[in-house]
Amino acid sequence: MSESHTPPSGSARLNTGVAHNARVWNYWIGGKDNYEVDQRVGDHVASINPVIRDIARADRDFLGRAVTYLTRERGVRQFLDIGTGLPTADNTHEIAQRIAPDSRIVYVDNDPIVLVHARTLLTGTREGATDYIDADVHDPDAILERAAGTLDVTRPVAVMMLGILNFVLDTDKAREITRRIMAAVPSGSFLVLTHPTYDPEVGGELQVPAMEFWNANATPPITARSAADITAFFEGLDLVEPGLVSCSQWHAASDSAAAVPQYGAVAVKP
Ligand SMILES: C[S@@+](CC[C@H](N)C(=O)[O-])C[C@H]1O[C@@H](n2cnc3c(N)ncnc32)[C@H](O)[C@@H]1O
Repeated sequence: MSESHTPPSGSARLNTGVAHNARVWNYWIGGKDNYEVDQRVGDHVASINPVIRDIARADRDFLGRAVTYLTRERGVRQFLDIGTGLPTADNTHEIAQRIAPDSRIVYVDNDPIVLVHARTLLTGTREGATDYIDADVHDPDAILERAAGTLDVTRPVAVMMLGILNFVLDTDKAREITRRIMAAVPSGSFLVLTHPTYDPEVGGELQVPAMEFWNANATPPITARSAADITAFFEGLDLVEPGLVSCSQWHAASDSAAAVPQYGAVAVKP
């Protein structure tokens, strides 16, 4: 391959002049891997939609509960975590391998900053395995092909799509992606999903103006969806109780967890 065709490394692709979702998300959950532009845009979004930090924290807590549930209660030992985000406390492999050291995890993200920090995601147990794929969710075939290097796709896989389908703006395309990925994994596999919503039932009224600001000032562009549209991503799968709910309330320790406008659900492939 000639040098001009070598894909640029994560650091060479970093754009610190425009706010990026992975870095702003890291800012909202209290991380340090973000730049001034991310903080400025993140604060402005929070001024429009004051629950945005609650959403980000609730989403990470949901991740912790879902991975714990799948590893401990359902015996899952393989995870495909698409739209990983920047490494933080309790990444998927740490939670799963704490319970089952032989767990195998493949992370996927397309943000150059996540690629730069990917080493932190690759520090799993000796008994298990972790891998990182720099790829776009719009190309599920490429993801599946490369994930098969680490995951045994003849055995159940938990496909984690937390806060990622909201970056696939076309709902039919998003549905096609989940369908394609879930068709490639066997019965007993899971789809774990979180997704922002504008539904007023869970306090989503301010998501639309906040996302309008985001789309004019940051990247990549985002969309919220209704509960009905998000439920359709689970077509052909059986939702685990309690179904699609505010992610803060899914298997929450207390009945009094406040709703946030980010739905979460786990479903199994029959
Ligand atoms: C809102 S964060 C969610 C991070 C993590 N899943 C969580 O729930 O905490 C979304 C992540 O998706 C990544 N992302 C956005 N568009 C993507 C795409 N087209 N392909 C792959 N990853 C993408 C971003 O870089 C970011 O790291």
